[in-house]
Amino acid sequence: MTTPTIRFVCHGCGAIVDAAQALPFRCPHAGAAGDDIDHLLVPVNGPVEEFSAQNDFGPAENPFLRYRSLLSPYRVARRANLSDAAWEEIVGRLDDALIAVDGGGFRVTPMAVQPALGQSIGIEGALWVKDETGNVSGSHKARHLMGAMLYLRVLKAARLPAGERIEARRLAIASCGNAALAAAVIARAANWPLDVFIPPDASPEVVARLKDLGARITVCERDPAEAGDPCFLRFREAVSAGAIPFGVQGSENGLAIEGGRTLAFEMAEAFRSAGQAPDAVFVQVGGGALASALAQGFAMAANVGIITRAPRLVVVQSAGCSPLDRAWQLLGKTELNVAAHHRSRFMWPWESVPASVAHGILDDETYDWLEIVRSMRLSGGNSLVVNEEILIRAHELAWSQTSIHVSATGTAGLAGLLVNPFRGQAAVIFSGVDR
Ligand SMILES: Cc1ncc(COP(=O)(O)O)c(C=O)c1O
Repeated sequence: MTTPTIRFVCHGCGAIVDAAQALPFRCPHAGAAGDDIDHLLVPVNGPVEEFSAQNDFGPAENPFLRYRSLLSPYRVARRANLSDAAWEEIVGRLDDALIAVDGGGFRVTPMAVQPALGQSIGIEGALWVKDETGNVSGSHKARHLMGAMLYLRVLKAARLPAGERIEARRLAIASCGNAALAAAVIARAANWPLDVFIPPDASPEVVARLKDLGARITVCERDPAEAGDPCFLRFREAVSAGAIPFGVQGSENGLAIEGGRTLAFEMAEAFRSAGQAPDAVFVQVGGGALASALAQGFAMAANVGIITRAPRLVVVQSAGCSPLDRAWQLLGKTELNVAAHHRSRFMWPWESVPASVAHGILDDETYDWLEIVRSMRLSGGNSLVVNEEILIRAHELAWSQTSIHVSATGTAGLAGLLVNPFRGQAAVIFSGVDR
C-alpha cells in the first residue's frame, strides 16, 4: 500500500498544499486583493484505521514520540522513506538540545483533579487542571512550535522540495510573551536564527531572556494610521521578504496548530485512564491557536476512540478585548461556509487595546476563529467574557488553592467558571508560569 500524500487544505478557499512540495504555513491564496475569504491551512488527517491501531500509544513520555502517528510531520517523514528510527533521532536530538538550552525537554505534563479549587469556585463535578507551567519555556506554546520545527527538520533530512534552501531563511515571530520565549528556546535548540517583533511595553525580563537566547529583536511602535497589531504587521513584512513564519497564529502557520493538538491527546488519555469524561473544557483565547488545537485534538481523540466524545468547548476572553465573542454573537445561525467567504463581517481587529492582568490574550484578532466556532457548534460549546475583577479573582484562587505558579493569562479559562456556574465536570489549562 502506498502512503497517501500529506496534505493541508485551506478551510476558506479549498486550496490544497502537499507538505512535501511546499510549506503548509500560509494559504497560497491568502492576501488576494478584494478577497474576503478566511484562509487557514488545516492538516488533512490520515484515515482512522491508520491510527486506531495506535490507540495504545506505548511507553514514550515525549508527546512528539508518543503521538507520532497522529502528526503530519511524522507522516511526511515516513512517506519520504525516513524510518521510524530516523524520526526518533530527529526528536531525540532536538530534545537533548532543549534540555541543554532550557533545562528540560518535552514530556507528558501533569493533570489532576483539584478538589480545593473546584470547591472554592462552586463547581459540582470534578475540576481537572492540566499544568503546562513546567513545559518547555514555561507554557504550552512550545508544543505549537516544536511541531513546526520537526517538520522543518524532516524536510532537510529527507531533502524534500519544500525544504529547498530553507536553512538560509531566518525564522520570524510576532509576540512579547510566552510564544516568543517558546520560539526563542526552540530556535536556539535547533541553532536556527530568529527575529522577534515585540511592542515597546514588552516585559524587560522577557526581552532579556530573548536576547540571552540569541534572538534578534525589533521593537514595533503603534501607528494610529495603521489598523491592527504593529508587531504582526512587521512580522508579515519579514515573511514577505523571505522569513519562515515561526509564530502561533494559525492563519500564518497552519502547522503550528497541529503541535498543540498533543495537549488534547494527553488530556484525552488521562481521562481514559481515570475512566472519566469531562463535560466541558474552559479555555482562554487570544489569537485562538490553543482553543483551535484543543478542539481539533479532542475531535481526533474521539474519532480514534481514546474518548467517547469531545468535551464542550467553552471559550473565555477578557472584556477589554473579545473579538471571538463578537464574532460568535454576530454569527447567529449563519452557515460557516458563508462566514468563511465573508470574514470581515465577523472578524476584524479590535479597535482599542486595553490593559489587562491577562495580557497574553489581548490579541487584536482571533486568527483561528472559524475552526473554534465550528467546534463550539459541534460540541455544544459557548463563549464567555470576563472582567478584570473576575480575572484577578481566578488568579488569586489558583494561587491559594493549588501549588501551581501560573500567570493570570493562564487562569483566564478558570475565570470563565466563575461567571458560569457549572454542574458537570470541567477541565482547564493552567499555562504560562508566573514571571
Ligand atoms: C498562558 C497562555 N494561555 C493562553 C494563551 C492564548 O493562546 P492563543 O493565543 O493561542 O489563543 C496564551 C497566549 O499568549 C498564553 O500565553
